[in-house]
Amino acid sequence: MFRKLAPYIKKYKIYAILSPIMMILEVASDIVIPVLMAKIVDVGIAGADGQYVIRMGLIMIALALFGGVMGTWSSHIGAMAGFGTAAEIRKAAYASIQQYSFANIDKLSAPSLITRLTTDAEQVGQVTMMSLRMAIRAPFLMIFALIMALYINGRLALIFFGAIPALALALVVILRKAMPLFQLMQEKIDRVNAVVQEQLAGIRVIKSFNRQKESEDAFMERNKDLRDTAIRAINLIVAFMPVMFLVVYICIIFVLWFGGKMVMAGTMGSGDLIAFITYISQIMMALMMLSMYFMMYTRASASTNRLIEVIHTKSEIQEPDNPVQEVRDGSIVFENVSFKYPGYRENILKNIHLTLQAGEVIGIIGSTGSSKSTLVQMIPRLYDVDEGSVKVGGVDVRNYSLAALREAIGFVLQNNTLVSGTIRSNMQWGDEQVTDEKIIEALRQAQAWEFVSQYEDGLDHRVEQGGNNFSGGQKQRLTIARALIKQPKILILDDSTSAVDMTTDAKLRQTFCAELKGVTTIIIAQRVASIRDADQIIVMEEGRVDAKGTHGELLEKSEVYREIFDSQQKGLAVS
Ligand SMILES: Nc1ncnc2c1ncn2[C@@H]1O[C@H](COP(=O)(O)OP(=O)(O)O)[C@@H](O)[C@H]1O
Ligand SMILES: [Mg+2]
Repeated sequence: MFRKLAPYIKKYKIYAILSPIMMILEVASDIVIPVLMAKIVDVGIAGADGQYVIRMGLIMIALALFGGVMGTWSSHIGAMAGFGTAAEIRKAAYASIQQYSFANIDKLSAPSLITRLTTDAEQVGQVTMMSLRMAIRAPFLMIFALIMALYINGRLALIFFGAIPALALALVVILRKAMPLFQLMQEKIDRVNAVVQEQLAGIRVIKSFNRQKESEDAFMERNKDLRDTAIRAINLIVAFMPVMFLVVYICIIFVLWFGGKMVMAGTMGSGDLIAFITYISQIMMALMMLSMYFMMYTRASASTNRLIEVIHTKSEIQEPDNPVQEVRDGSIVFENVSFKYPGYRENILKNIHLTLQAGEVIGIIGSTGSSKSTLVQMIPRLYDVDEGSVKVGGVDVRNYSLAALREAIGFVLQNNTLVSGTIRSNMQWGDEQVTDEKIIEALRQAQAWEFVSQYEDGLDHRVEQGGNNFSGGQKQRLTIARALIKQPKILILDDSTSAVDMTTDAKLRQTFCAELKGVTTIIIAQRVASIRDADQIIVMEEGRVDAKGTHGELLEKSEVYREIFDSQQKGLAVS
């Protein structure tokens, strides 16, 4: 485990070295104190030498103070090293997540990533800290105490050599069983987080459907599951305690029995016997610490593996060695493209051939689940094709630098959200340096200025998390404006006007046709009205291109298109 953690501890190397040294000094003073005590009893009290008692007593106090200061310091530094390491590993994991592809995120899942960056990182920090303290303190305390016991009375110390192996064996057996349970426990925490995240994100829907009860049940079920697993793991660990105490008490009985005899026979001082008993309790303390430490260690090494997995997961979407830095124009070609999401048996996109000219307006229509969104996600390489290729500006998208490719594409995802901040800060996503005039122009083009201009604070108007303080249609128009600010060569709108009214939708289309000259604009829409003026309309059906052409042509030749059109005409006639 620490080999894996080494790169993250590196920054705190000094602390990691100093803390154990101070720890050892503390242990040393802990060990010497019982010897002084024995001397006080056997020499000072037995010889009625008050001077000696006071002198030794003062030395004892000084040693205790010294030990206390060292111990506190060591804790302090150890904590810095531990939490520092946790922060480092969290940083590395976060950086790694930033360059994940969509497929990586699908696979590891957001709730699990959250657990890993919080609970798991916390475990790692705790254990790093404990490793610098307990894991050093306990063995040293044990070894020193043993040496001292041997020094005081070798024959009596033989008792320990029976007890310690017995305890070690019990510990190993128990931890072997506990390890898989701890791994399981982290997974159960993932599951709790997943349900919390989903239910919180959907809290408005849950309330409006009056599903609080079901939501609570789903949570309780997983919560209970986590509790049961945790109890099983802890029960195992707890089983070690009685074993340990039994062994320790047997030791004490033996020591008192044989030691008592020796004291009575005059071969051992009673002070020595007291010191001996103190060492036994120190050894017991050390064992308790060690067992706790091993428990934490077992859990943390499961956590370490989970974090290392995050860090080592490389996006399969990698840049080529000599990436093309410039997208020439907005033309797009799909050549025999097939694709499936990981874990699917059948292709989600099937042998797609398309040629889109730069500057064209393209409409895509088709039933839900017909892979419209999947199709356009191939263009900015949100996913990579499995077969065939996608070319932008005549170059395979896999040959571009990702930054250059994505810079050239304005993408309004189907479920795009705004981030908390202000309207201005959201718009600056497209371009850090953008001026207010440019922002306003984009808002105007996206038909958003009409409501933004109503706010007293205008562009400084607050955006809540996820843009929840805007209506669906307003949010859509803001995300369109944000995409326009990039001044992209390709603009992709995935169902981005579904929540705006017909009139605004028409105005938006006007913008796309009249103002965005030279920008290849792809509009995925539910309504035929949203795309009927497009230069080219693509009809998707079950992952295939069913037909392509202009509105007029498609009415002639595509049954699917005619059906969609007819059903919407009827809808209009009724309303
Ligand atoms: N991230 C994903 N992981 C796995 N399957 C997905 C994912 N996104 C979409 N799908 C599946 O791919 C198919 C096409 O979805 P999509 O492209 O979103 O269709 P559309 O946009 O036309 O409604 C659907 O069967 C959907 O369940
Ligand atoms: Mg879609």
